[in-house]
Amino acid sequence: MELLEAIKSRKSVRGYKPTPVSKQILAEVLGVATRAPSAMNIQPWGFTILGGKVLDDLKESLQEKFLDGERTNCDFGQFPPFPGVYRERQVELAKTLFQLMDIAREDKGKRTEWQLKMMRFFDAPNAIIITVDGEVSGFLSIFSLGSVIQTIALAALNFGLGTCIELDPIFYPEVIRQITGIPKSQKIAAGLAIGYPDWDFPANKLKSSREPLSNIATWHGVQ
Ligand SMILES: Cc1cc2nc3c(=O)[nH]c(=O)nc-3n(C[C@H](O)[C@H](O)[C@H](O)COP(=O)(O)O)c2cc1C
Repeated sequence: MELLEAIKSRKSVRGYKPTPVSKQILAEVLGVATRAPSAMNIQPWGFTILGGKVLDDLKESLQEKFLDGERTNCDFGQFPPFPGVYRERQVELAKTLFQLMDIAREDKGKRTEWQLKMMRFFDAPNAIIITVDGEVSGFLSIFSLGSVIQTIALAALNFGLGTCIELDPIFYPEVIRQITGIPKSQKIAAGLAIGYPDWDFPANKLKSSREPLSNIATWHGVQ
């Protein structure tokens, strides 16, 4: 796929076909993605790649914990709510997504179902947990994780795969640790659903908005 076309067509995929992705393809995607830049080339990332029964067990346990109402801190603590325009963008995204999914604001049942789907990595056949060594988990590493995750998402497109970065499941880090054996020394930074997109799934029709460049770029001395 042509590079700009890939960047433009990447989007978060929230509905998947059940076909598992082969280990060979997942290894190729991740291998290529590690060409991503990292601060001082420290490559602080680690990947735990899940499928089959292990992923089924994780999905089950995450759903149980979610229904228990027992949301804990993620390994990076809590995030304060977003203010102002950031909150507006968040609300716009949720509204559009819920419209596509026919989830009314007051429909608690359907909203819970959606949250559970999120805990199930949107029913993707595979998921990747992205970790960072606790000894190097500051700003430079998190920045570097962002670069590798975007590169995974782009490389995945080459194989007809979709992805969705997810933070919701990582609010249950002990559940993830129990099932995957990720040690405490590794902080759990993100989850990534990965699989072949089901393009008929309504949420996959979403095209998220972007602020025009004119509102966010300041030019000096450029012709
Ligand atoms: C750090 C991060 C965390 C995210 N967490 C979630 C999540 O928990 N659930 C979800 O549905 N999407 C999640 N997303 C996807 C964003 O909602 C999505 O990237 C954004 O709305 C832009 O849409 P696009 O990816 O389709 O371009 C996350 C993205 C990032 C970068």
